[in-house]
Amino acid sequence: MLHPEAAKIWTALRDHRQTLEGVTTRDLFSRDAQRFAEFSFGFEDVLVDFSKNRVSRDTLALLLSLARASCVEIRRDEMLRGDPINTTENRSVLHTALRAPADADIRVEGRNIVPDVHEELARCYAFADAVRSGAIRGATGDRITDVVNIGIGGSDLGPAMGARALSPYADGPRPHFVSNVDGADMADVLARLDPARTLFLVSSKTFTTIETMTNAGSARRWIAKALGETAVGSHFAAISTNIVAVEAFGISKDRMFRFWDWVGGRYSMWSAIGLGLMIAIGPERFAEFLAGGHEVDVHFATTPLERNIPVLMGLVGIWHRNIMGYAAHAVLPYDQRLGRFPAYLQQLDMESNGKHVHLDGTPVEGSTGPLVWGEPGTNGQHAFYQLIHQGTDVIPADFLIAAEPHEQGMGDHHAILVANCLAQTEALMHGRTQEEAKAVLTAQGLPPVKIELLAPHKQFAGSRPTTTIAYRKLDPRMLGRLVALYEHKVFVQGVIWGINSFDQWGVELGKELASRLLPVVKGASAEALDASTRGLVAHLRGLAR
Ligand code: F6P
Repeated sequence: MLHPEAAKIWTALRDHRQTLEGVTTRDLFSRDAQRFAEFSFGFEDVLVDFSKNRVSRDTLALLLSLARASCVEIRRDEMLRGDPINTTENRSVLHTALRAPADADIRVEGRNIVPDVHEELARCYAFADAVRSGAIRGATGDRITDVVNIGIGGSDLGPAMGARALSPYADGPRPHFVSNVDGADMADVLARLDPARTLFLVSSKTFTTIETMTNAGSARRWIAKALGETAVGSHFAAISTNIVAVEAFGISKDRMFRFWDWVGGRYSMWSAIGLGLMIAIGPERFAEFLAGGHEVDVHFATTPLERNIPVLMGLVGIWHRNIMGYAAHAVLPYDQRLGRFPAYLQQLDMESNGKHVHLDGTPVEGSTGPLVWGEPGTNGQHAFYQLIHQGTDVIPADFLIAAEPHEQGMGDHHAILVANCLAQTEALMHGRTQEEAKAVLTAQGLPPVKIELLAPHKQFAGSRPTTTIAYRKLDPRMLGRLVALYEHKVFVQGVIWGINSFDQWGVELGKELASRLLPVVKGASAEALDASTRGLVAHLRGLAR
């Protein structure tokens, strides 16, 4: 499966690792006065600084030849023009078409799909405007004040992450999100709402997902109980590719918004799946979000690989995962409203690149996608950063920071946030030698015996890799850019690993087994189950009242 040229470069990269043995990132900075300038890449008002990763110019050169030998440019162009690169499902992969301008021409099976995209977007915008203005009301004539998106995975994480990220721009009905089949999720949201003023958006690409269908059924009963069965139609809308199932649920065609099977669930927040976000922030701002994504598409499609930010993000990640063997990747936004961004990226990255076979079905010999996780700074600093600084595993991290906060007149809050973000990346890169630790302890006047005891604990290895993404402000356009940057990063890595980043068969087995177990949990015979599962069923049944 590996292209012979790529195979040679993998070997060269492994050899090259030896040349960095014993070289710290500090050394790399002191050897190269231009390092920051050489390893930082600008795009609009975004700067992505890779200089604190332990990579040299030679490392980048080798990684770039790996990208070329792995046909990243060819695969990118295939994706962008609509070739069916999702080979296991024989589908095109065209989330980029969802943010393309109206005069673009992108073809699926010979047909330009851009007019369909814009037609559906216009329907969504008209619906969002009508809900926001009060032209669309509940069955009792009350204005809609709360919109609940019912969906899971890609039909939840994007709009939920976006609604939180862009809350300073929200001037429409309040957005809520129910995803978990745990009834607590729905119950907690409903407890705050008035049925007469609530609109539900049932978001599901397939319209068969058990969590979403169960939650939608409960919401339907809640409305029917409070306002009568005839009110249901006025309090629901649906977003799906499965028009037949939506109609069967009882949602009329004019409240049904579609997207297409060439949009993967985890790539769908740009489509009608973003309706909850559109209603919250309004169509104009949603259009800015799309424009930000499109700017990155143009950058990805046209910028030479040497300056192509998502390509470089992908390549530095390949270095960490495959050459250095780092298994995890942290995403640490110093932006409280990006609190759900790591969770969003978990699906984007781990569902896309958590794969064990190449496109032709042969096993992958090295490693594919890392474990992606994170929390906003500075909170994470007081929880898990200790492990990132001094733990035995190296965890590369992305730090995200805005120059401007939304909150004005709050004194030093933002300056302290920025200082902390920069201080963490500095500390992770710089570390502290035992000698330096001893000098600090000596200056504090500690006795020599205490200094000897404490110095190893106060030593930091340093050279812990970080990438900083610095931008002006988290506005809709910037959020669009951020999401698209990571989408293309994930794509680049998938191409280099030679895997299909656009299917998700691994999730299916659990779904199948859950359907088989449901009757057992409800009382059917557990005989056919394995001993552990049978034992657990018996225990839970015994405890349940
Ligand atoms: O978790 C598997 C998955 O298929 C995701 O890929 C998808 O985003 C999610 O379930 C929800 O699927 P649907 O939108 O069809 O309800």
